[in-house]
Amino acid sequence: MRTLNKFNNNSPIAFFDSGVGGLTVLNKVKAILPNESCVYYGDTLHMPYGEKTKEQLLDYSDKIFRFFESIGCKAVVMACNTTSSVIYNDVKDKYNFKLFPIVQSVSEMLAELPISRLGIFATRATIISEAYQNEISKYNDNMQIFGQYCPDWVHIVENNLINDQASRNIVKSDIEKMLLNNPERIVLGCTHYPYLINVLSEFAPINMFIDPAVYFAQYIKTELQKNNLLATSNNNVFDTFYVSSKPEKFKESSKMFYKLASVPELIIL
Ligand code: DGL
Repeated sequence: MRTLNKFNNNSPIAFFDSGVGGLTVLNKVKAILPNESCVYYGDTLHMPYGEKTKEQLLDYSDKIFRFFESIGCKAVVMACNTTSSVIYNDVKDKYNFKLFPIVQSVSEMLAELPISRLGIFATRATIISEAYQNEISKYNDNMQIFGQYCPDWVHIVENNLINDQASRNIVKSDIEKMLLNNPERIVLGCTHYPYLINVLSEFAPINMFIDPAVYFAQYIKTELQKNNLLATSNNNVFDTFYVSSKPEKFKESSKMFYKLASVPELIIL
């Protein structure tokens, strides 16, 4: 057994993702749990996770989880759909903290939507894993699911190219392809994609899109409550950010979901 820093109710909740994407989840969690302090690790050195192998994702995540253990986080949010889809089953019992994976946590709520045709936009690895299909079918096997990966969207968001004409053309062509399936709603199944909501809503009604972070934040709140882990005080609430490369770029690209006061700290694990 490793030596661990003890945590208590006022210890931080940890979030990780390949870059700025997980801030779309952190943002929703802070909105309903303002007393919680958060630690965020953006593994910008290894992005995009959606193009990595399972072995690579296991390696990166293990280092990040040990880092979170060493600083005494009370819970870890796998904000990244790709790691939740590809490695959650391999890591779920390995660490000494409560682990919340996005895909598995929101699937029951998605399965309850009163629709029969659901689109999923996600990374290549998430789509190939069919994790959304597998999880949703545990609760509802009548929903038809149309998965489609969007290989350029993470790059567009991370590089702040959202308003470029070339980016709009890419997004337009991806949406047009998805709409051929006639979905009633479309899940933004990669945490980077909500950054594109303004562009997406030029090509389809805005309320067609579902940001699963809304359901996920609610799930996290309920689970922390059940496990008696909610923060007990609103004194000293603070958020800390780390990245594995390019801190300035992270600060710039993340603005839509979190305004960082200073650049995140660079830590290569
Ligand atoms: N934002 C992550 C996800 O939710 C991964 C994006 C990437 O690095 O490919 O899947």
